[in-house]
This record gives sequence, C-alpha cells and structure tokens, in this order.
Amino acid sequence: MSDNTKTADPCVMVIFGATGDLTKRKLFPALYNLAMDDFLPHGFAVIGVGRQEMTSEEFRSHMVASLREFVGKPDEKILKWFEERTYYTGGDFDDDKKLFGDLKDLIGDVTTKHQIPDNFFFYLATPPSLFANVTQKVVKNGLGKEENGNWRRFIYEKPFGHDLESAEKLNASLLRLVKERQIYRIDHYLGKETVQNILVFRFGNSIFEPIWNRNFIDHVQITVAEKLGVEQRGGYYDSAGALRDMIPNHILQLVTLTAMEPPVSFEADSVRDEQAKILQAIQPYAPENVLNCAVRGQYGEGKLSEPGPDANGPRSVPAYRNEPNVAAYSNTETFAALKLAIDNWRWADVPFYIRTGKRMATRHSSIVIEFKKAPFMLFRETGVERLRTNRIVIHIQPDEGITLHFGAKIPGPIVNMGAVDMDFNYLDHFGEQISTGYERLLYDCMIGDATLFQRADMVAASWRIVEPVLDVWSALPARDFPNYPAGSWGPKEADLLLERDGRTWKNLVN
Ligand code: BG6
Repeated sequence: MSDNTKTADPCVMVIFGATGDLTKRKLFPALYNLAMDDFLPHGFAVIGVGRQEMTSEEFRSHMVASLREFVGKPDEKILKWFEERTYYTGGDFDDDKKLFGDLKDLIGDVTTKHQIPDNFFFYLATPPSLFANVTQKVVKNGLGKEENGNWRRFIYEKPFGHDLESAEKLNASLLRLVKERQIYRIDHYLGKETVQNILVFRFGNSIFEPIWNRNFIDHVQITVAEKLGVEQRGGYYDSAGALRDMIPNHILQLVTLTAMEPPVSFEADSVRDEQAKILQAIQPYAPENVLNCAVRGQYGEGKLSEPGPDANGPRSVPAYRNEPNVAAYSNTETFAALKLAIDNWRWADVPFYIRTGKRMATRHSSIVIEFKKAPFMLFRETGVERLRTNRIVIHIQPDEGITLHFGAKIPGPIVNMGAVDMDFNYLDHFGEQISTGYERLLYDCMIGDATLFQRADMVAASWRIVEPVLDVWSALPARDFPNYPAGSWGPKEADLLLERDGRTWKNLVN
C-alpha cells in the first residue's frame, strides 16, 4: 500500500445475488486482489445472500473454487483469511421476515465474532427489478439507517432503469428509503486504469490541455468493439440491445471524461458536476434527426479470425437470431453508432462519433482524438500533400496505453514525409497489473469516495440523450437486419455516417 492510501474502514460486505457469475468472476477476485495488496481492513467479512439454500461451508468452497479458477495460483494464507470471514444465507427474496430476519441475525453474529462496527455495504448483483424491493427490505429490517457514526452503503449494478422514466422511478423509490450519499451506482468502466488515466493525462500534464478544444481538434471517435456475441445472456440482451447495454453508461462516461472541464478539485461532486455539465450540453436529437445521426445493426452469421499458433483458421459463428434465448425474428440491435454534438464553448462543431457492437472484427476499445490538419501545406508537390492528421489514441483495452501519431521526414535527399507513432504502453512501464476493474470501485465504496460512481442526475441525463433514438427505433423496426456479418466492423451505414462528413473510422487492429 502506498503512503497516500487510506485503509478501508472495518466493515461487512453483503452481496445479494451472491451465487451468480459476477460474484465468481469479478467480486471475489477483486476482494482477493485488495487483500493481497493490503487494502482490506482487518475487521472485514463477506456475507453472500442468494435464492439457493446453501450452508456457509458450501459457499466458502464455491468461493475458494472461483478464486482458484480466476486468480491463477492464489496465496493459501489469503484464501484461509477469506474462508474465516465468509458466510452465506439463502431464501426467498420476497419473504422479508425469513430471509431478511436471518440476514440480520447473521450480521449480528458476524460483527460480534469479528469485532466489526456496524459499517455495512450491500452489493446488489441481482436483476434490476429487485433493486428497490431488496433495499426496502434491508431498510425495513433496520439495516439501512446510519447511526452512531457508522455507515450503510448500497451498490447497484447496471442497468439502472431501461429508459428515462424507469430510471427516475427507481431513483425516486431508492431516495424514499436511503440518502443519495448512501447510493453507489456502479459502472465498471470507471474501474479501468486506462479510463481513470484520462483525467490524469488531461489534467496532470500541462501540454495537452491548451490544444484540447475546438481550435485544434477536428473530431473525436470512441469505439467499444467486442468480438464476443451475446454468449449465455440472450434473454437479457434481446430486451436491452446494444444502445441500452453500453451507451448511456460506459460510453457516455468515456465521453464525459474526454470532454469535461477541469474540476475545481478531485472531490466526488466537483468531478461529477463537470461530467454532468457535458451530459446536459449534449442535445437530445429531434426525432427527424435520429435516422441521420444514429445507425443500428444486427450481426448475421460470419467468421471470426482467431490469431495464435493453435488457431485453425477463421471460426464460423451463428447469426444473432440463432443465439440461445433470442427471438427468431428479433429486431434488437447488436451494434449502435451515434454522432453526438456537445453544445458548449469548448466543443461547438466538434462531432463525437461513438460506436459499439458485438461480434465485431476484434476486441478493441479506444478514444481517438483527431486533430485538424496543419493550416498551410508547406511541402507542395513533394509527395506529402496527403498526410495523415495528428492523432492521439487512448487505448482502453485489450492493449492499454496512449499513442501519438504525427508526420516525420523520411531520410533521403528529397522531402518525403511518413507517418510515425510515439507509444506509451502500460505493460512496458508498469508491468502487468492484475485487476478485474472492480478493486478500485469496491475500495472507494469502503472509504466513502463516490467520485467514480454515477449520480442520479447523471443517470437521468444519459437516458435523456438516448431516449429519442430508442423511441424512433422502436417505432420503426429495422427492415434490413441482419445487416453486418459477424467478424466485421459493423454495417456500412456506420461508415457512411462519417463519410458524409468527410471522415472515416479508425479501425485499429491490435
Ligand atoms: C457490460 C455489458 O456492462 O459490459 C456487456 O452488459 C459487455 O454486454 C460488457 O460485454 C463489456 O465490458 P468489458 O469490460 O469487457 O469491456
């Protein structure tokens, strides 16, 4: 632990939906990594809550098995430490007396046994339809009220609502039960190192900020491309679609961090105020503009290239409509691209193009800042007129780093220019960081820092931006689905979205 870190307060973490995938793949490994780095307090315990009936003993063996699977070779001492402080209670979430009564008793036993004060955080890794109900039962059983200097916090997984109205309703229900400062709306993109580094890159250096505006920047492109399809999540995904699944949360977070003004401090509300201003400055589309500024796609069958020595050539994969739990004539989009305008002093006339999709050519997420061309082409008739512009690329995943593209003279007697790159790669500089992306977020919740969590007004503003698109798309079902083959860069209309403006997507391949 470095000198400027704070040990988390002693506390109990209660996970609702503890037998699901998220706990196994992300939450346990994240807790383990925090313990390895000495970030967890000595007074700490985890209680899993699920529908399944199971003893604490059985839950512990699941926990150990998932750590063995997801963190490689876990340290036996840390495993034992976790085993000694992991518990479980199961039952029907609708039955407030039995399940929540048992939970209350268990919390009482655990806090006494491990001498932990009444600091609890409840992680709702349940379907969103249970958020308000579970919170209400926790509160009704006296577990939500902060007293005697002890805290109670609630972390909600996404999606937070499925449109503006449902998100506002959910916020209102939660705020009738607990205070806004107790609510942590998680977006795991904010746990990614490269995403947090956007602010450090912009505001911890003096050379980038003076050119970070409409005078120098031509446009911004944000791509979150996934090679995966919908896997086993067809049921959820078919009712959500790419737009709801990725844009009001992950991608708009990337937009706000790229576009926001410097905050007055790094206090949670100062940072979130600036992010919220960007969301407010993005004008929702008039319905007649949706078809010009938004593109949807759905993948058909196709081939995925599989790099690596063991690959047996491209792998054929089925169309979205043939995935498990997806309707045979589904009209759900698996790709979405939007052209956003941020109507403020810094960004007027600088389009932000964003796109995301499943079953794309490769897994790649990045933010491309494309600068304007040099104002005057000095080297006429020397073979350099068609130079690329300058560009900063923030690579989010799978490679993590930053690249600056610029022109340089190719050695020789005539002036010939070539495009070159300057690269910063996390791995080379900092070595491999083992992280699930949830470590920082769990730790921040334990120390009460909500900077990397979404505030109610931000959630509402994000839904407000995408709502007109959702409305038009549901009123006018797509006629051309599937319109891109799996393993490609999406539908041709997405290319046209930029070509109409004289621009092209930068399809970076890792
Ligand atoms: C989730 C979406 O929030 O983010 C998934 O529901 C998506 O559909 C995932 O695959 C992407 O996360 P990451 O960290 O793999 O980019």
